[in-house]
Amino acid sequence: MKENPSGNSKNTSSISHGEILKKIWKHLEAGATKRNHPFHTPVVGTISEDGTPSMRVVVLRRVWRKNPHRGLIFHTHVGAPKVSEIRKNPYICWVFYHPQERFQLRIKGKASIHTDDDLAEQQWQATKLLSRRCYLGEAPSKLSEKPVPGFPDYLIDREPTLEESEIGRKNFAVVFSTIDSIDCLELHIHGHRRSLFIWNEKGELETKWLTP
Ligand SMILES: Cc1cc2nc3c(=O)[nH]c(=O)nc-3n(C[C@H](O)[C@H](O)[C@H](O)COP(=O)(O)O)c2cc1C
Repeated sequence: MKENPSGNSKNTSSISHGEILKKIWKHLEAGATKRNHPFHTPVVGTISEDGTPSMRVVVLRRVWRKNPHRGLIFHTHVGAPKVSEIRKNPYICWVFYHPQERFQLRIKGKASIHTDDDLAEQQWQATKLLSRRCYLGEAPSKLSEKPVPGFPDYLIDREPTLEESEIGRKNFAVVFSTIDSIDCLELHIHGHRRSLFIWNEKGELETKWLTP
């Protein structure tokens, strides 16, 4: 039998949900901590005010695998359209793809916006000065008469000082998303495999297999 190009050594029937979930957490945690991991930049979908889907790439910042805070976060400008979209409709979906391991995750949850609590403060403190530039300008997605960088011109060639960067604190928001379900599709030359993990309100896990 030829080697499996997906790097997945198990065939489709001899693996448990527990083993798949272990792999999922491992890669999500690597995505949050390693810049070059493909899970570092997932696509996040929200529902825009006219009811149409609205998707964009974000940076995965942290992952919590345990109850009661099983979830994921990204950072954003408080004036970004996705913030008002989430405030109107908290349903959110994350999509991750690992091209070497050849597996996709679709994570669904409910999002909340954090600007003034401990989580927001902790994340702001962990933010690098260069990244803080993004919070020193206008919110994204506004019309502009010319191309603009999204931060003040005097910061084009340098990072802000700590004092300059603090002006951005009022524009900084953390989007926390619960993990209510994970749909995992693993591509495999001898047959794909698709598993579903659903946590109920009490945090109890239910698992299922799906046709790929
Ligand atoms: C690699 C990459 C990483 C990004 N990371 C973020 C991020 O962490 N937070 C964010 O708000 N926007 C991020 N963006 C920009 C968004 O994709 C998007 O263009 C912007 O936030 C406006 O989105 P909105 O109009 O839906 O709010 C990133 C874009 C790229 C290409």
